[in-house]
Amino acid sequence: MNKIRLGILGGGGDSLIGILHRVASYMFDRYEIVGGVFNPDYEENTKFAKQIGINTDRVYNDFNQFIETEISKPLEERIEVVSVLTPNFLHFPMAKKLLENGFNVICEKPLTTSYEEAKELEALQRKHNAIFAVTYTYTGYPLVRHMKHMIAAGELGEIHKIDVQYYQGWINPVIHDPEIRKTVWRLDPKKAGISSCIGDIGTHAFQMAEYLTGMEIKSLLSDLNNLYEDNTLDIDGTVLIRFSDKFKGVLRASQIATGEENNIKVAIYGKKGAYRWEQENPNYLYHLKDDEPRRVIKPGNAYVSEIAADGTKLPGGHPEGIFDAMGNIYKGVAKAIRGEDFYDGEFPTMNDGVRGMLFIEKVVESNKNGNVWVSMENQ
Ligand SMILES: NC(=O)c1ccc[n+]([C@@H]2O[C@H](COP(=O)([O-])OP(=O)(O)OC[C@H]3O[C@@H](n4cnc5c(N)ncnc54)[C@H](O)[C@@H]3O)[C@@H](O)[C@H]2O)c1
Repeated sequence: MNKIRLGILGGGGDSLIGILHRVASYMFDRYEIVGGVFNPDYEENTKFAKQIGINTDRVYNDFNQFIETEISKPLEERIEVVSVLTPNFLHFPMAKKLLENGFNVICEKPLTTSYEEAKELEALQRKHNAIFAVTYTYTGYPLVRHMKHMIAAGELGEIHKIDVQYYQGWINPVIHDPEIRKTVWRLDPKKAGISSCIGDIGTHAFQMAEYLTGMEIKSLLSDLNNLYEDNTLDIDGTVLIRFSDKFKGVLRASQIATGEENNIKVAIYGKKGAYRWEQENPNYLYHLKDDEPRRVIKPGNAYVSEIAADGTKLPGGHPEGIFDAMGNIYKGVAKAIRGEDFYDGEFPTMNDGVRGMLFIEKVVESNKNGNVWVSMENQ
């Protein structure tokens, strides 16, 4: 048994994302959850640990006790990698202290609450030579990986246009009530950072655009909507993006798109062809051409690229979804921790996290300055 000893911060029974990470970590038999702080309330914390079968000896009162006790253990017992699944404002202090004490980190997005903090983490990761993943979950889908691979191989030719969208409607029942909207951490700048919609889901769309193209967005112009005077953070936004003078696009994100669930989709148009993919139907990738009927690419077939095949556990026709996508990211991180070869793009890195923070800051800056073009270069 050479399982990686995993610790978890946040992601308790009351959380949205905890279950996804726990299932993902067990998916390829590469990790064992050995401890953590799932909840700031110790009683809730231990109750939850017992419920999921974790030995409460390594379930700690708080994050500081977690670090102090773990580093006092011999290396062969110590937790090797820690997943940070808390609300945004805790990512930076937790990841910082973890890096300083020699842990590898799997951190939820957005990486921090500011670009400055993100750069500090990047420097620390370099100094301590740690493995650091930022869980932009959607890059774990086999067909997203296939698109990236085929675009790099030139299948679409020169790319001219991208349209990437992330629409949800969950904030509608919250945002229209002045009392309820005060209770949600995603609308509290102290906990969420300088943006709600762009920080939470616009960053996924941004990372998808840079991940698929392998290119960096050079400049952007944003138009955000907060809807109410007393709501300080955006809950909807449209961003014009430019990769170059000849490759432009639009990024649309909303938490008030009534009736939408988790509608992330991307269309990318090149001289020789185009791809269309949507998360709510992730096992179908459409390949469009001017002079041929459109093709449907499906995972689990011999024709998909190596990185897509590596992220598919079952033969074609057996649908896989978001748990499998996160499982693929954990698999990539496991390979990196154990010093095995892994594919380029197998897990989103510190750089994806840092770029995400620059994106959020620039979108807010563009909107604040009267919807003007701002540069993302030479920062
Ligand atoms: N990758 C994705 O697709 C995706 C999806 C949803 C959420 N997220 C991210 O995951 C993070 C958490 O989001 P969520 O929706 O699960 O939030 P949540 O509010 O549902 O859960 C947060 C969890 O953190 C725990 N927590 C809070 N303070 C803590 C502390 N000091 N110590 C230990 N635990 C603490 C809470 O008890 C809870 O279990 C956010 O940063 C969010 O952006 C990512």
